[in-house]
Amino acid sequence: MRRTPLYIIPLLAVTILILKGCGMNPRSVSEESELDRKVDSVLALMTLEEKAGQLTLLTSDWDVTGPTMRKEYVEDIRSGRCGNIFNAHTVAYNRNLQKITVEETRLGIPLLFGYDVVHGHRTIFPIPLGEACSWNLELMEKSARLAAGEAAASGLTWTFAPVVDISRDPRWGRVSEGNGEDTYLGSLIAAARVRGFQGEDLSDPYTLAACIKHYAAYGAPVAGRDYNTVDMSEIAFRQDYLPPYRAGVAAGAVTVMASFNELFGVPATASPYLMTRILREEWGFKGFVVTDYTGIDELRAHGVAADRRQAGILALTAGVDMDMQSAIYMETMQGALEDGSITLEEIDRAVKRVLRVKFQLGLFDDPYRYFDDRRESSVVHSQEIMEHALQSARESVVLLKNEAFKGSAILPLASPRRIALIGPLADNQVDLLGSWHGAGDIDQVVTLRAGLMNRYPGATISYAPGCGFEGDEVSGFGEALRLARSSDVVVLAIGESQARSGEAASRSELGIPGVQEELALELIKTGTPVVVLIMAERPLVFPLLNEKASAILYAWHPGTRGGDALADILSGNYNPSGKLVISIPRNVGQIPIYYSAKPTGRPMDPGNKFTSKYLDVPNTPLYPFGYGRSYTTFEYGETGLSSESIGRSDTLVVSVTVSNTGATAGEEVVQLYTRDVVGSLTRPLKELKGFQKIYLEPGVSKRLQFRLTAGDLAFVNGKLERMAEPGEFRVMVGPDSAHLEEKTFTLKE
Ligand code: NOJ
Repeated sequence: MRRTPLYIIPLLAVTILILKGCGMNPRSVSEESELDRKVDSVLALMTLEEKAGQLTLLTSDWDVTGPTMRKEYVEDIRSGRCGNIFNAHTVAYNRNLQKITVEETRLGIPLLFGYDVVHGHRTIFPIPLGEACSWNLELMEKSARLAAGEAAASGLTWTFAPVVDISRDPRWGRVSEGNGEDTYLGSLIAAARVRGFQGEDLSDPYTLAACIKHYAAYGAPVAGRDYNTVDMSEIAFRQDYLPPYRAGVAAGAVTVMASFNELFGVPATASPYLMTRILREEWGFKGFVVTDYTGIDELRAHGVAADRRQAGILALTAGVDMDMQSAIYMETMQGALEDGSITLEEIDRAVKRVLRVKFQLGLFDDPYRYFDDRRESSVVHSQEIMEHALQSARESVVLLKNEAFKGSAILPLASPRRIALIGPLADNQVDLLGSWHGAGDIDQVVTLRAGLMNRYPGATISYAPGCGFEGDEVSGFGEALRLARSSDVVVLAIGESQARSGEAASRSELGIPGVQEELALELIKTGTPVVVLIMAERPLVFPLLNEKASAILYAWHPGTRGGDALADILSGNYNPSGKLVISIPRNVGQIPIYYSAKPTGRPMDPGNKFTSKYLDVPNTPLYPFGYGRSYTTFEYGETGLSSESIGRSDTLVVSVTVSNTGATAGEEVVQLYTRDVVGSLTRPLKELKGFQKIYLEPGVSKRLQFRLTAGDLAFVNGKLERMAEPGEFRVMVGPDSAHLEEKTFTLKE
């Protein structure tokens, strides 16, 4: 039976206001209170069961990342017990679910449709860690915007992204979803991606509500094991791990996801400190907090709740608004209210936050605004998004090594006649998409083989996988070696499958899996030049291969246009410009290894045994943060400072001239780091404080300027206040964190 959608009634009560609609991030006090009035007008009509429904998020079962607590989600929607759905997409499917809500529930409050649009929806960009290596904020913002457009055209309203977890531990499989080890860069990327997903106006149906996750410190699990305990000092937390979440909130993200882990002995899902004190009181966050998958139920396993009811009470009172997949709020809220364990104010507070986002998305104006069949077919895989996927993949690739082979650098491969294309990633679609590719369209993926064939139409490209990802099967080596011997060059694509990366994919060994490295070493022995492409979602450990190979590109999982991008780089049609955003260790024992380490009382001295070092491996990584080569060479002139000292309200201008001294045009990421020499607390040896990505034609120089103020020098002190302390600072400029020229200045009292 078709009912009149009752949500129209409260809306009529505030007719004019509703018809005008409301934008995201209301700019004025009157817009704010208008939004509050709308929210209150709906809240006033709701029963307790309907309120619990708005606080419930259930999966459609299209994708699952944990146990399914309720299979009957359509019935739950129909009865108003479930007000939000995730893992369902396409206009046709979601329109139908929305129709059930609008036409068959008492109030017709529109559903939110969430999904993990982590690095693209149907068209997939490189994994976030890879794209971060572009150091190109505009490019990343645009990826998020285009991904939002594609996802919104497929009936989605909300993405569980961006992932902004700082991680310094490549054992953790989800290092792939974040932006690497650095807090400053990670914060800028967090904000750029939020701006991209949400755009200027959330009610624009080409945008998605963003979700900052996983709040907080999920990227630092003990021993790199996913879902494990996090244990760190509050100073390290606030200094190194917290800022990207804050940057995402400051950029306007309307939702935040509670992480699975505990911190300071309290699971995030039950932490008033995280969810209320920091998020609401310190940052003024007005959106809603959603749990991660079954996060509330897991409070029992964490050992802080005796039963599901107590788990629900802990979460709600901590400030967690929406229950993803535990179905605990819907089951236990009434009882907890009746016995006084929670208050109506606490429930209403959470409901209001959810309704507020629904209003901001414009869903009360038109619950069907995201369901336009024609839009879906024109936006998905549009020329603009496919071209951007190519550019994003090009900029994410990091050239680690390009040595001379018989007199000249192997790369680029100008006009090879015979190419032996080897490796399990050479003619592979699904693994190029990477983990969390969601609804990514596998058929659209350009393989490396297809990319090379397009790029070198006159060449003979012979292909053999050589081996699989895993196991010790070497029977394919013979064919691969035969092809190598009869070719001018070997292009070898090895690394990780997408299934070995991402969530629940932690590893204790980080070598290139299976017999792939062995295959690489055999191929190198043939004497034919070998270009090694490593495609993976984390820094792998490959010191021997690094020593033997002359050319290595780290290509991550590059997404839909990966094959074209790699062919562009191999051929020199695009000059690689990516720089690592995470250190590549020499072995697993060095982990966690990151450039912004603190000094010790016994700095490493090779001549003195009793200093801070290993007996078996240098302290340095194989490749440092910020590192990446180009087909051209860049020279850095002397760093200039506008002054030897600055006051608290002054700006220090740091200048440097960078020249392209090679024969090819190229891009360079010029990096600026500082060090606070003496502080009230120990301070890192280097901290990134600025960067500029520039393009230079051969023979051209550019003078760059960076501006530093006292605010840039601030850090979290012993009172947990962010403050800059006067004294001597070093400022360092260069192409990566290990090759820097240093100058000194003073911050005055
Ligand atoms: C679990 C993951 O931790 C989270 O990142 C994701 O958004 C949810 N599953 C929903 O798919």
